[in-house]
Amino acid sequence: MEFNIALLRGDGIGPEIVDSAVEILKKTADKFGHKFNFTPYLIGGAAIDATGKPLPEETVKGCLASDSVLLGAVGGPKWDNLPGDQRPEKALLGIRAALELFTNLRPAKLYKALKDECPLRPDIVANGFDLMMVRELTGGIYFGERGRREGKYGEEAYDTECYSKMEIERIAKVAFETARKRNKNVISIDKANVLESSRLWRATVHEIAKDYPDVTCTDMLVDNAAMQLVKNPAQFDVVVTSNMFGDILSDESSQITGSIGMLPSASLGSTKRGMYEPIHGSAPDIAGQNKANPIATILSASMMLRYSFDLDKEADAIDAAVDRFLEEGYRTADLVGNTGVKPLSTTEVTEKILEFI
Ligand code: IPM
Ligand code: MG
Repeated sequence: MEFNIALLRGDGIGPEIVDSAVEILKKTADKFGHKFNFTPYLIGGAAIDATGKPLPEETVKGCLASDSVLLGAVGGPKWDNLPGDQRPEKALLGIRAALELFTNLRPAKLYKALKDECPLRPDIVANGFDLMMVRELTGGIYFGERGRREGKYGEEAYDTECYSKMEIERIAKVAFETARKRNKNVISIDKANVLESSRLWRATVHEIAKDYPDVTCTDMLVDNAAMQLVKNPAQFDVVVTSNMFGDILSDESSQITGSIGMLPSASLGSTKRGMYEPIHGSAPDIAGQNKANPIATILSASMMLRYSFDLDKEADAIDAAVDRFLEEGYRTADLVGNTGVKPLSTTEVTEKILEFI
């Protein structure tokens, strides 16, 4: 099969990790007899430097014309002082909205080989954990009304959390469908003891739950969820939550796997086109040093094959190569911990994983 993939390398370590994942995709295509065509487009700080805008029109058009999008990361200190709507991060929100990617899947599992890197007590993770965070991605406070105004105490700023029933219904359906393919358990996270938007969220999730009697559905308040994730992560199968709660909790769930450098994500809408990216950022402190862990981006590429192209065997081959890399004791700088193992560079990791495909 032939697919067109838009590449948004972005900033910081973005270019290095995307290039690594492209190598892996090319090898996978060769091995299984497919053809992937790659077209790069500018995004984030790199786009600001070249065009003055974080998300050029051409990038949006290119992504809309592609079968799928692979993104590295955006942002860095160079652009930190720009006004909110001109920052590199604005491009990320813009492309998610332009492609109508309302679902963000963020799997977090403990690799057996990395159990010593897990910061939780061994008895807590004795049986491992494997959860799928389903984060709403194009609504809530990220996209609500915001501004500055004069208030009771002088200048003030506000952002608004707003969810329509429709937005909650469609993300809840994704969560239940996802759970059906896993352990049939959904935990919906909200702050319904305080927020009106959460009360609508909770009621709507329960309405949708009626169509999935085979799936267990429970609610959890977000503060409790933050605690439960480190207390007993194995209780979670599918987690469904709002844009901001999902942003925060997915970083937490990544850290308990050992390193945020391992976690991929898939952003999906109602078509097959998705955008795939590591959940970590642009790590400007190590950019250009050939040190970054490309595994989260490689696993994102695997998710692209699985979710956008229905190439399950091919995705399995990439996942198995990553497993073998870890099982054989190879480590990246973020994963060495106290092991005393010499970390591999980005290009060395890529070569090893290529060898295992
Ligand atoms: C993420 C990031 C982004 C988000 C930022 C960079 C806008 O933290 O993908 O989790 O908050 O969604
Ligand atoms: Mg985040």
